Amino acid sequence: MSEKTIESILNEKRQFPPSETFSQQANITPTELEALKKHAEEDYQGYWAKLAQENLYWFKDFSTVLDDTNAPNYQWFTDGEINVSYNCLDLNAQKFPNKKAIIFEAENGETKTITYQELLDEVSKLSNGLLDLGVQALDRVVIYMPMVPEAVIAMQACARIGAVHSVVFGGFSSNALKDRIEDAAAKVVITADGAFRGGKIIPLKDSTDKALEGWETPVKNVVVFQRTGEPINMSNQRDIWWHDLTKDQDRESKALALNSEHPLFILYTSGSTGKPKGIQHSSGGYLLHAKTTFQWIFDIKDSDVFWCTADVGWITGHSYVAYGPLAAGATILIYEGAPTYPHPGRFWEICERHKVTLFYTAPTAIRALMKFGDNIPNQYDLSTLRLLGTVGEPINPEAWMWYHSVIGKEKCPIVDTWWQTETGAAMISPLPGVISTKPGSCTQSLPGIMMDIVDDRGNTVDQPNKGGYLVVTKPWPSMLRTIWGDNDRYIETYWAKFNNRLYVAGDSANQDEDEFFWIMGRIDDVLNVSGHRLGTMEVESALVSHPNVVEAAVVGKPHDIKGEGIFAFVVTKGERPTEDKEPKATKELRNWVAEQVGPIAKPDDIRYLENLPKTRSGKIMRRLLRAIARGEEITQDISTLEDEGIIKQLQGTD
Ligand code: WTA
Repeated sequence: MSEKTIESILNEKRQFPPSETFSQQANITPTELEALKKHAEEDYQGYWAKLAQENLYWFKDFSTVLDDTNAPNYQWFTDGEINVSYNCLDLNAQKFPNKKAIIFEAENGETKTITYQELLDEVSKLSNGLLDLGVQALDRVVIYMPMVPEAVIAMQACARIGAVHSVVFGGFSSNALKDRIEDAAAKVVITADGAFRGGKIIPLKDSTDKALEGWETPVKNVVVFQRTGEPINMSNQRDIWWHDLTKDQDRESKALALNSEHPLFILYTSGSTGKPKGIQHSSGGYLLHAKTTFQWIFDIKDSDVFWCTADVGWITGHSYVAYGPLAAGATILIYEGAPTYPHPGRFWEICERHKVTLFYTAPTAIRALMKFGDNIPNQYDLSTLRLLGTVGEPINPEAWMWYHSVIGKEKCPIVDTWWQTETGAAMISPLPGVISTKPGSCTQSLPGIMMDIVDDRGNTVDQPNKGGYLVVTKPWPSMLRTIWGDNDRYIETYWAKFNNRLYVAGDSANQDEDEFFWIMGRIDDVLNVSGHRLGTMEVESALVSHPNVVEAAVVGKPHDIKGEGIFAFVVTKGERPTEDKEPKATKELRNWVAEQVGPIAKPDDIRYLENLPKTRSGKIMRRLLRAIARGEEITQDISTLEDEGIIKQLQGTD
């Protein structure tokens, strides 16, 4: 975020109390919120135990609530037995078999609905198919799918039999897929022949084949869902069509009683090194917070149609598409394609067509849609909307106000939800019937979630509006359990800074006079590009893996739509690309990075240098690079730079 945005956020004084009409019907009233907070403060474990008993179905009750013997490897409801898929599907199919679970709209406009009973049947058939392939509890299954209901079916089928899924975003390249398959040692990959996106076909099966080429993979089978009908290669031994695997399967399948701590999934996310981290989540604790936060924050009612636009490849698509809403028996909408395809009103058209009532998206999407002007949304009937949400990055007040007035017609509360892949579900968010919102603030932590802002020593920052580290002061049920295969990195990354006492989120933040949280951005080398986390090191490793690149440094710079854009400084072999050669070299490098990581990692700018600016001890001067990428004045000490000429190169004037 630019200094200007931070400043305008800090000067933001507007407040929007919930309307009387909304408050009166809200799932959480002011009195209830008070009671929840009080309970959590007075009896932390009792609070969570009560929620877990009231909101989840346990095959076997737990007697331990929080086990801190191996802190910071906390465990929750340890001796309880549960099945996530049973909680989402069997229970709801018993209650309302014909209620719509999923409304699906394909990119070409076709729609279909799936009831809770049908969803349970499909999930059961696929779990039986996976069992036939020899998949057992704790085996890892990688899911690399388009945004179609079958992606959710695949996740739920894994959960049903205790297989640990790792969803890889369909926009990631075969290289990124390979790394994740390898790290998780996956036994099965579930993919599709292709995905429709922006009028094009993304060849997912081809990428899967490439990812599995040339090394001894742990993958025994690839299950292929037929989505596009394009010709693909199917290997006899390894590959099997989804429809063949499921066609003769029984519609009944046993949901295994699993330990509450049984890993439900691994989801890779970027950190400050080149290697993505496999964030591992549990079953009971994860589902509890995904479900209750969904009910509270989105104020879900029986008649609602909830649309979260996130792909299942991200944590938001796990907690607020595949798990939270289904556990709550909600009707969700899934849209396959690009937000502006084939026209910029596509999102609003979908809202109108399916009478969406609750809409949850990312600030980057709001900014992109806002650019097309008010005329576009004004052509659609958005009167069914009653609540709007955002997630993924700080929302600038301008975009917030547009969302509020043009989309929400000034009647929909906006829930700005702060959370992370690691936290499993929302941590800071307004409760829409209670909290007066302020544009740009995610407001207050949820009941039972204890958060603080601390200084370098771990002491609370008492002064309003003063920045510090955003931390969680007590373990919570949906927290990550570890980093897959690397518990030392888990402790090092999230706990070591303050002696394993506080969970360090990696964001800086401040609290205002009302104790509302304002997120300022990441404190590590993690970029937030269009609400997606990318490590600068990941992009740098991709760049230096190009045969012509010697060294590279990547920094973020403010970007109107993406929030943050990628600026790369590159040292090439041989002659430095000159002005007229640059377009070609730059194009090649941008495509190279897309191939290595995925199109979201493409640098927006590339500048070529003879050397990277370094300190005497050999560290890259990132602050200097950041200032240059932002076009700011250079205030750093640059006396260590061997060659002053490098300044001109840095500034792009030579
Ligand atoms: C940022 C996404 C400001 C933050 C659910 C966090 C936010 C990172 C917000 C996690 C928000 C997420 N306001 N910043 N409402 N929500 N972030 O793991 O920097 O993809 O640490 O999880 O996104 O990104 P992740």
